[in-house]
Amino acid sequence: MQSHLLTLCYLIGSITFIIGLKMLSNPASARKGNLVAAFGMAIAILGTIFLYTSETGEHLGNYPWIFGGLLVGGVVGTLAAKKVKMTAMPEMVSLFNGMGGACAALISVVEFNHLSKEIAEGVVSAGDVQPTVLIIVLGLIIGSVSFAGSMIAWGKLNGKVKDLSFTGQNILNLLVLAITLAAGAYLVYDPTQHMLVYVILGLALVYGVFFVMPIGGADMPVVISLLNSFTGVAAACGGFLYDNKVMLTGGILVGAAGTLLTILMCKAMNRSLQNVLIGSFGGHKSAAGASGKDQGAYKEISLADAAMVMSYANKVMVVPGYGLAVAQAQHVCHELEKILEEKGVEVKYAIHPVAGRMPGHMNVLLAEADVPYEKLLEMEQANDEFKTCDVVLILGANDVVNPAAKNDPASPIYGMPILEVEFAKTVIVNKRSMKPGYAGIENDLFFQPKTSMLFGDAKKVLQDLCAEVKSV
Ligand code: TAP
Repeated sequence: MQSHLLTLCYLIGSITFIIGLKMLSNPASARKGNLVAAFGMAIAILGTIFLYTSETGEHLGNYPWIFGGLLVGGVVGTLAAKKVKMTAMPEMVSLFNGMGGACAALISVVEFNHLSKEIAEGVVSAGDVQPTVLIIVLGLIIGSVSFAGSMIAWGKLNGKVKDLSFTGQNILNLLVLAITLAAGAYLVYDPTQHMLVYVILGLALVYGVFFVMPIGGADMPVVISLLNSFTGVAAACGGFLYDNKVMLTGGILVGAAGTLLTILMCKAMNRSLQNVLIGSFGGHKSAAGASGKDQGAYKEISLADAAMVMSYANKVMVVPGYGLAVAQAQHVCHELEKILEEKGVEVKYAIHPVAGRMPGHMNVLLAEADVPYEKLLEMEQANDEFKTCDVVLILGANDVVNPAAKNDPASPIYGMPILEVEFAKTVIVNKRSMKPGYAGIENDLFFQPKTSMLFGDAKKVLQDLCAEVKSV
C-alpha cells in the first residue's frame, strides 16, 4: 500500500514538474508555475521520507539529520533568494546549480562505497555491478564538473575570480578530461579499485575549474545554462541508480531545458557554443570599436527637449537593457509610461531575447514594476512596429540595438538579430557615458543623425523626465 502511495507521490511530482515548466514559459503564469513545481517537489520529498521502505521493510530513519538538513537548507535558500538583487540573479542560479551538481557527485561516492562493501562481503560480484558502476561514474564526473564549474562561474560573475587563459590551455583541458574518462572507464571495468572513485572525483573537479576558467566572465550566463543541463543529467543518473522515477523525470527536464536554453542564447547572439566555450568574446573588453574606425561626433539632447519630443509623440517605444536593471529603474520607467499615456501617447516596450544578462531578464524586471504584459513586444513584433514610432527611448541597452550586427561583417556581433530602432523617426539613448556594453564594441547607432544621447543614470534621468513631461 505504502509503495503504491509513494508511486502516486512521484507521479504527482513528475506531472507538476512538466506543468510548472510549461507555465514558466509565459510571464503571466511563471510565478504560479514555480509554485506548482515546488508543490510537486515537496510531495515527492515528503513521500520519500515517510513512505519509502527498503526490501526488508525498513523506513528511511535518520530523521533528525534529514529534517536538520531541510531546515538549514530551507532557511539559507529562502533568505538568499529574498535578499538577492535582480542583477545578481545569474550568480545565485550558478550557486544553486553548483549545489545540485555536488549532491549528484556525493550520491555517486556514497553509493559506490555501499557497492564496494557488498563486493567485499561477497554479496554481489564485481561483474554484476558494472552497469551500476557506469551510472555512478557518469553521475560523479558530470556532477563534479558542474559543481566546480558553477563555483568558478559564480566567482567570475561577482568579480572574485578573474579570467585566466594561456596558450595550450585547451590541450591541457582535453588531457585532464581524457585522463578522467579513462580512470572512470577503468573503474567500470574493475569496480574493486575503490580508491579510484576519489581520484575521479578530484580529476573531475579540476576539469570543472579548468573548463570554465578561460571563458570570458561576460559569457557566464551561457556557461551556467550549460552547467545547469549537466546537473540535470547527473541528477537523472541518480534517478537511474535508485530507480526513482521523479528524480529521473526532474533530471531529464532540467537537462533538456538547460540544453535548449543554451542553444537559444547562442542563437540569439548568433554564436556557436564552441565559440562561447573557446572564443574570447565578452572576455577581455576593449573600449574601442571593433573596427577602430572614427565614428565622428554624437549629439546630446536636454531633458526638457526629450520630454517635449515624447509628450508630442503619437507612439513611443521603450527599449530596456542591462543598464535599466543595474539602475533599478523599472518602477520609474512604468511611471513615465503612465504619465505619457495620460497625455494620449501610446507606449510599448521592445524586448530583445538577450537584453540584460539572463533569459527573460527584461520581462521579469518590467513585470516586477507591474507593466502590463500586452505592452511587451517580442523582437519580431517590435521590428515591425518601429517604422510607426515617433520616438524610441533606449534605456541602458547597447549591443541589442547595434546596427553593426547587420552592417559590419568584421563586427564580433555580426549576424546577431537586433532591434531595428533606426526605423523610428527619433532615437533617444540613455546611458551614463559612451562606454561600450557587454560585447565591448562601439555602437554606430549613437553617431547617426536621428540619434540623441541623454546621459545619466537611468533611474535619475527617468525621474527627471517624469517631472519634465508632467510640466509640458
Ligand atoms: P549591454 O550591451 O551590456 O549594454 C548595457 C549598457 O547599459 C551599457 O552600455 C552601459 O553604458 C549602460 N548602463 C549601465 N549602467 C547604467 C545605468 N545605471 N544607467 C544607464 N545606463 C547604464 O546590454 P544589452 O543591450 O541589454 O545587451 C545584453 C548583452 O548581454 C548582449 O550582448 C547579449 O548577447 C549579452 N548576453 C545576454 C544574455 C541574456 S540571456 N540576456 C546572456 C549572455 C549574454 P554606460 O556604462 O555608458 O552607462
